[in-house]
Amino acid sequence: MTGYLRLGVNIDHVATIRNARGGGHPDPVRAARAAAQAGADGITAHLREDRRHISDDDMARLAAQIDLPLNFEMAATDEMLAIALKHKPHAACIVPEKREERTTEGGLDAAGGFDSLKPFVAELGAAGIRVSLFIEPDPVQLDAAKALGAPVIELHTGAYCDAGPATQAAQLQRIKDAAAHAEAIGLECHAGHGLTYDTVGPVAAIATIAELNIGHFLIGEAIFGGLESAIKRMRALMDQARAEAMGERSA
Ligand code: PXP
Repeated sequence: MTGYLRLGVNIDHVATIRNARGGGHPDPVRAARAAAQAGADGITAHLREDRRHISDDDMARLAAQIDLPLNFEMAATDEMLAIALKHKPHAACIVPEKREERTTEGGLDAAGGFDSLKPFVAELGAAGIRVSLFIEPDPVQLDAAKALGAPVIELHTGAYCDAGPATQAAQLQRIKDAAAHAEAIGLECHAGHGLTYDTVGPVAAIATIAELNIGHFLIGEAIFGGLESAIKRMRALMDQARAEAMGERSA
């Protein structure tokens, strides 16, 4: 069982805004420092094949200048593996990537892509990088991640966050079941994608989830009230939901 719930702040969309005009403002490394000040436990960044937001230089500066653990989101390609091995981030989260998608749509097919993923998990792990696989809350995918030797999985919360009132409870139950399955087979469980102030509580309340990775909503909220305030509010909602859940468990 996990007590403290870590918050990884994804700063990709600071780079999206910067890239809209070129130049250097706003700087995702500055955002990472502000996130650290506000209580983030880690920084997450996704270097996409098309470099639509985070750039190679951003990755290099994040790896060199940020004290918090860096979670490098990457597609399973030789190019990204070489970059990960060069910077040696604390963690690498392998995600599926399609050039035409707007964001990471759906999880990695760890079961179907087992043979092609195996060398990536092995090489990253051998370099001391903690590997996680971004997968749907589906036991088949969790079992495949375990068999691949990944120590961590990140559950895709997009379907839960996007669900309407008729299906949201069922989507949440899939995440709860997957988190229980992760614990049963010895995988550390993270979750993320699409989380907001409104959707974070029920996920944070799942006591075996160790980390949430949140980006787009926080950067959007930062426009209205500042990044530190957005992160602090998210952190407070997470802590409150987790404390209530732990209280119910021990009552
Ligand atoms: N986790 C993973 C693996 C992701 O790919 C993303 C999006 O880059 C996130 C978490 C964060 O999602 P969002 O930006 O919707 O909060």
